[in-house]
Amino acid sequence: MPGAESMPAAMPDAMPDEIRLHTPRLTLDALRGEDAAALYRYRADPAVSRYQGWCPASLDEACRFIERCAAVTPDTPGSWFQRAIRQRDSGELIGDLGLHFVADAPATVELGISLAPAHQRQGLAAEALQAALGWIFEGLHKHRATASVDPRNQPCVTLLAGIGMRREAHFVESLPDGAGWADDVIFAMLEREWRLRHASERHRG
Ligand SMILES: CC(C)(COP(=O)(O)OP(=O)(O)OC[C@H]1O[C@@H](n2cnc3c(N)ncnc32)[C@H](O)[C@@H]1OP(=O)(O)O)[C@@H](O)C(=O)NCCC(=O)NCCS
Repeated sequence: MPGAESMPAAMPDAMPDEIRLHTPRLTLDALRGEDAAALYRYRADPAVSRYQGWCPASLDEACRFIERCAAVTPDTPGSWFQRAIRQRDSGELIGDLGLHFVADAPATVELGISLAPAHQRQGLAAEALQAALGWIFEGLHKHRATASVDPRNQPCVTLLAGIGMRREAHFVESLPDGAGWADDVIFAMLEREWRLRHASERHRG
């Protein structure tokens, strides 16, 4: 398996009705009605939802989520543009990736990602996020990408640091978490940091 760093850039393939990104092992495209059962299965899994802001309470709620996603276009201020993460060869839904077009910061995109447990720890989240960052900086010409993570979510902290995002801020007990409060760590990457990272990767060969 190639490491994320040695992977070719994602191939944006703008379809008339949707944005589709390909990586060596994945396709990122729109969620569809028939994805609801798979989406519900992994999103409702406590191991996946523990540090997430949204967990579907029923299959119906997963269906409504997919319907709402269909109405969002890239760059709609304040919206989450949600992409399906599919195995490239089979088309099977194995996760989802959200791009939040921050309403009061139009040059910034916030990222969020979830993978079904059976597909974790294979470098697939890193592969999907690299593709999304390529599109954000080279396709949408944004200035900054961020991600917000609970510092107890070690897999996600390792993931974000591993793809070269900077640990930029740590807010203490800033978010409600059940009856208590959770810390919030912000990771970020600037467009020039993305270019530098990719120039040095190309230089290394
Ligand atoms: C966070 C998440 C997307 C990572 O997905 P993944 O496909 O397993 O990540 P990758 O395989 O690309 O691994 C990225 C790095 O994280 C590390 N990692 C992944 N899972 C880990 C775990 N359970 N424990 C320790 N490290 C872990 C990998 O070893 C890898 O490190 P490396 O770059 O040093 O090799 C996945 O765990 C998940 O969906 N979690 C539930 C949803 C969630 O919390 N999303 C984040 C909200 S901010």
